[in-house]
Order: sequence, then structure tokens, then C-alpha cells
Amino acid sequence: MAPRKIIIDTDPGQDDAVAILLALACPEELDVLGIVAVAGNVPLPLTQKNARIVCELAGRRDVPVYAGCDAPMARKLITAEHVHGKTGLDGPVMEDPTLPLQDQHGVDFIIDTLRREPSGSVTLCPLGPLTNIATVFTRAPDVIKRVKEIVLMGGAYFEVGNITPAAEFNIYVDPEAADIVFRSGVPLTVMPLDVTHKALTTKARIAAFREMSSRVGTMVAAWTDFFERFDMEKYGSEGAPLHDPCVIAYLLEPHLFSGRFINVTIETRSELTLGMTVADWWRITDRPKNCLFIGDILADKFYSLLSDRLARL
Ligand code: RIB
Ligand code: CA
Repeated sequence: MAPRKIIIDTDPGQDDAVAILLALACPEELDVLGIVAVAGNVPLPLTQKNARIVCELAGRRDVPVYAGCDAPMARKLITAEHVHGKTGLDGPVMEDPTLPLQDQHGVDFIIDTLRREPSGSVTLCPLGPLTNIATVFTRAPDVIKRVKEIVLMGGAYFEVGNITPAAEFNIYVDPEAADIVFRSGVPLTVMPLDVTHKALTTKARIAAFREMSSRVGTMVAAWTDFFERFDMEKYGSEGAPLHDPCVIAYLLEPHLFSGRFINVTIETRSELTLGMTVADWWRITDRPKNCLFIGDILADKFYSLLSDRLARL
């Protein structure tokens, strides 16, 4: 079967980096047409640089990296250096990338790609704030119906928020963009904190990365070591949730995940609950169902998949 064509939209971020590595380790299943950086965990100059670092680490200099939007559609940028460190990839020392950044704006790359590729053949994989995707849909509404599906990391319901009591970071940074994407009608699968918080790193799981005795394994172990300290302190958990790799793992092995097809609506007005993904899990309203909202994961199998595929790099 031909590999699935995907575009990764991302704000690396250690967990984004692991997701990108997982995708690049599976060329027979995933054809990564391009990686588009967005402002999120850290500002755009760093997210685009980090995306290039990760492509080089994977030995995939063939994958073009683009810079997208440097600020949310209607608000000031909020970043997460407190989680990811100043560089966004704190943990190991990273050399500057030599892979060049593409000149074209990432939003234009996504529009051109969706217009060029056969309709319904390209999957969008947002791993950060939805600014680029919503800007694409606003600037070129003709491409909306050409998207095969969107599989994104964002939101939370039973797990509640991680950047405010009500909101998850990716949605909170650009709620107007999220509202556009969730109302777009594009087939949508959502990996919220409800599922990513069930995919925690543990000492044994990180050791498995380190025991690969490869540069990739060593880097992933160092990133997760750094990344997990924040969540372990905050939640008292035994490890940190590897949020973004859940998106790529879903593309590779969807049976590892389960959820419900429901309505999810984004709060864009209330300051108190701004960015909340109001999930009609119990189908109380007659709001139109718009996404597969994932709630569960076979965590051991997820980590086996991760280790098995990353060992290929
Ligand atoms: O809330 C977790 C999400 O926000 C992840 O995608 C992480 O990388 C940050 O972007
Ligand atoms: Ca991210």
C-alpha cells in the first residue's frame, strides 16, 4: 500500500521532536511532504530551527522545513519555556542545524500542496497551536474539502487543563484558530490530555531509549529526562506524558487508541475558561458531532511501537 501523505505542523518542543522522529522513521508507511513550524512552546525562530535539528538527527535532510505563523490569529503569543526550557529542546546540547529553512511561508506551502496533491490524499498533523491550519482555511477556503483528515494533539476534558484550570496549551494559545479548525467540517481526530496523560514516560521506558545506544536513542532519553521533570513535580506522576507522538502512533496503529465521535466546541469568549474544549462526551446536546475524541491508549504497546521504530534511525 502506498505510504500515507502527511504534513506535520509543529512547535518543537521535546515531545514534538519525538513525534517527528517517529514519523521520519517510517517512510514505508508515512510520506512526510513537509514540516511546518508554528509559534507555540517557544517563538517561531526556535521552533523552525528545532524542526530542522530533528530532521538532521533523523538523517532525513530530504524533508523540507518551513516557517509558518509567528503569532496567534488574534492574541499575543504565550510560550512554555517553563516546560521545554529556553531553547525548546533543552536537555542535551544541540548543534545548530545546517539543513536550510525553505523560503516559502509554511501557510503557502500547505495551500499549494493541498491544491497540487489529489483531493482527499493529504493528512494534516498539527502538534501545536492551530494558527497555521486556521490561516490556511481562512486564506484558501477551497482547500478545506481537499484535506483527507486532521489528526491533532490538543484539548482536554476529563483531564482538565494544563496551562489554565480549563484549557490545554495548544488550544489556549490560539482559541480562535482552534474554533475555525473544529468548525471546518474536516474529518477530525483529537488526541487530548485525556489520552496523552495515560502515555507516561517511566524510568524503564526512558532506559529503553538509552539502551538503543544510538544518537537518536540518547537524544530522546535526554529530552524526556528534561521534559518529564515539570509534569512529575506538578502531577506527582512517575513520568511525563509524551503528548505529540500519540498523533503519529495513531496513524501507524490506530487500534492502540479508543474514543468517541462527539461534538467538541471551543470556548473563545470567557476569560475564565478561554480555550476550553467543551466535549459533549455524554451526548447531552444536539450540537453536531465533529471529531473522534480519543480517551484511551494501550500504553505498553505504544511505547513498544515507539522504541521499535526509533531504533530504525
Ligand atoms: O499541552 C501539550 C501540548 O502543548 C504539546 O503539543 C506540547 O508540545 C505543547 O505544544
Ligand atoms: Ca507540540
